[in-house]
Amino acid sequence: MTLASRFEGKTAIITGSASGIGRATLIRLVSEGATALGVDQDEAGLRETVSLANNAAGTGGQASFAVGSIADEAFVKSTVEAFAAKNGRLDVLVNLAGILRSTHLVDTTLEEFRHIIAVNLEGTFLFCRQALPHLLKTKGNIVNAASTSASFGHPYMAAYAASKGGIAAFTHTLAREFILQGVRVNAVAPGGIMTPMVAGQPARFPEGANLSLFSNLTRPDGHFGRPEAVAGVIAMLASEDGEFINGEIIRIDGGTHS
Ligand SMILES: NC(=O)c1ccc[n+]([C@@H]2O[C@H](COP(=O)([O-])OP(=O)(O)OC[C@H]3O[C@@H](n4cnc5c(N)ncnc54)[C@H](O)[C@@H]3O)[C@@H](O)[C@H]2O)c1
Repeated sequence: MTLASRFEGKTAIITGSASGIGRATLIRLVSEGATALGVDQDEAGLRETVSLANNAAGTGGQASFAVGSIADEAFVKSTVEAFAAKNGRLDVLVNLAGILRSTHLVDTTLEEFRHIIAVNLEGTFLFCRQALPHLLKTKGNIVNAASTSASFGHPYMAAYAASKGGIAAFTHTLAREFILQGVRVNAVAPGGIMTPMVAGQPARFPEGANLSLFSNLTRPDGHFGRPEAVAGVIAMLASEDGEFINGEIIRIDGGTHS
C-alpha cells in the first residue's frame, strides 16, 4: 500500500465539502483512490470541489455530490442509503459541515443557539447514526470536527463551543461503544485554519467585543494554517495508518493552545 492508494476500493462520505477543510479532505481522499461523496448545502461550491477532486483523482478515485442540509433527517437518511447501495459499501464518514456565529451571550437568542446545535451537533449525530450500520459491516471509521473551542475559552462563541464540546464527548462515547465491533471514531480539533469560516471572523465579532480576550485564537505571528494540513491528518486517521487510534481528539492549531 502506497500513500497514494490508501483509499483504493474504499468509499467515503465527506460533509461540508463545498469549502475549506471539507473541500481539501474530499480532494485528498479521492487523490488517494477513494470513491467519495461530497455533501453540502452549497451546490456551486460542491460542483467546484468535485471537479477539482476528479482532476486530482488517483487510481480508481472518483467524486460525486449530494446537496442538502445535514440537519435534515430525511435528507441524511436518503443520502447515506443511496450512496451505500450504489457502491455496495461505506468505509469512511467525515463530518465537517458546520457553522460559526459570534454574539455576546446575553444577546444570543434561543433560536440562534438551537440552530447552531442543530447543524453542528445534531447534524453530526444524524450522519453517524445513519452510517454506523454500514460502517459495522466494513469495520470502517468516522472522523468528526471538534474545535479548539471545545477545550479552551473562545469568547463570544458559546453556542458554537457548546456544539463542539458536544461533538468531542459524542466522539469519545461512540469510540467506546463500538470498540469491540471494529469501528473507530476520532475527531480533529482545528484552530486558526484559513477558510471562509475564519477569514471574515474579526469583522463578525459583536459590537463592543473585548479584543484583548482573543490572544489565544491565533498564533502570536498571525500565521494561519492551511485546510490541507487538517485534511492530511484526517486522511491518516481514516486510513489504515490510523488503525490503533480510537476515541482521540487531535488538536491542529500550529501550537496556539500549547
Ligand atoms: N477553520 C478553522 O479554523 C476551524 C477551527 C475549528 C473547527 N473548525 C471546524 O471544521 C469544519 C470545517 O470548517 P471550515 O473552516 O472548513 O469552514 P467552511 O465555512 O469553509 O466550511 C463549512 C461548510 O459547511 C457547510 N454547511 C454549513 N451548514 C450546513 C448544513 N446545514 N448542511 C450542509 N452543509 C452545511 C457550508 O456550506 C460550508 O461549505 C467545521 O465543522 C468547523 O466548525 C474549523
